[in-house]
Amino acid sequence: MLVVKAEGRRSQAEWCEHLTALRPGLRSIPYGEEGLRDEDIAYVLTWEPPEGWLARLPNLKVIFSIGAGVDHITRDATWPRHLPLVRMGGEEIGQRMGEYVAWACLHLLRNGRGFAHAQGEARWHYVPGERTAQDVTVGIMGMGSLGATAVPMLRGLGFPVIGWSRSRKEVAGAESFAGAEELDAFLARVDILVCLLPSTPETKGIVDAALMAKLPAGAAVVNAARGAHVVVPDLIAALDAGHLSGAVLDVFEPEPLPQDSPLWAHPKVTVTPHVASIARRRERARFVADAIGAFEGGQALPNLYDPERGY
Ligand SMILES: NC(=O)c1ccc[n+]([C@@H]2O[C@H](COP(=O)([O-])OP(=O)(O)OC[C@H]3O[C@@H](n4cnc5c(N)ncnc54)[C@H](OP(=O)(O)O)[C@@H]3O)[C@@H](O)[C@H]2O)c1
Repeated sequence: MLVVKAEGRRSQAEWCEHLTALRPGLRSIPYGEEGLRDEDIAYVLTWEPPEGWLARLPNLKVIFSIGAGVDHITRDATWPRHLPLVRMGGEEIGQRMGEYVAWACLHLLRNGRGFAHAQGEARWHYVPGERTAQDVTVGIMGMGSLGATAVPMLRGLGFPVIGWSRSRKEVAGAESFAGAEELDAFLARVDILVCLLPSTPETKGIVDAALMAKLPAGAAVVNAARGAHVVVPDLIAALDAGHLSGAVLDVFEPEPLPQDSPLWAHPKVTVTPHVASIARRRERARFVADAIGAFEGGQALPNLYDPERGY
């Protein structure tokens, strides 16, 4: 049996409908259903599980996170660390993130924020722009599953792409930089920095004044990973000083972005409300159903969270 603990009763019911259609042999039940016995639960698909709940389920085999991040599960000190924890994945998440990153890079290249501002004032802001995508190197910080999917989409638009990650990668079309010792060399080549790192103690506040100072003058920043990666006052200072030319931000801390945040009205900042890559529910249900099929067939689970690495 699989239990869905989602954001509300309606969404739980919808998840169960999709899962039942995709995997009829699996009983999919919404959290809170009367008569539900802890010992019957083999799988949980969850967003913000109640503290202590997962630890109480004696026959739980796999935990699925409704989102790509798992901090809403691991913040409960009692979560069963010995069980597989699967981060949400699937083709649609990669496709949507690739689209967002491509849009953000084009938006920065073609001065989307400046033209929207001028349009708001009915002002004919005739600045056709100097560069094409071929002149602008995109540097993906965190060349993991989403970063790798974005590469061919960016390359298709003409952007040269380089990537930085903990270990060396072989992603066609993107030169790989690895580890702290290669970070400066990576940053020196980047015109648009795209953050796709996971949220860990090591990556918290990584995009700070010191890091941004290592980007070439006129560079821009895109953050579609987690709000904690970017030190907002440092970003604003770098934009105001003219060192950075723009930023596209999808994620914030806290969310929703507070009304009084200086980011909302900043002329060089584009804000989107954490929508970079939210796959449709049916597609996410398909990912879970397929993963359970693989698991029950003795195959490896995809997108496993590693508690030691923290992502
Ligand atoms: N805005 C949205 O709508 C949205 C939607 C989905 C996901 N996200 C976010 O997108 C981010 C990326 O997700 P993903 O699935 O692509 O993650 P992933 O597959 O785990 O990839 C993470 C990458 O970051 C690298 N990395 C981790 N720690 C590092 C460090 N200290 N130094 C250098 N590189 C490091 C990893 O290197 P190795 O491969 O060498 O370990 C890996 O390449 C996550 O923060 C996720 O929460 C946002």
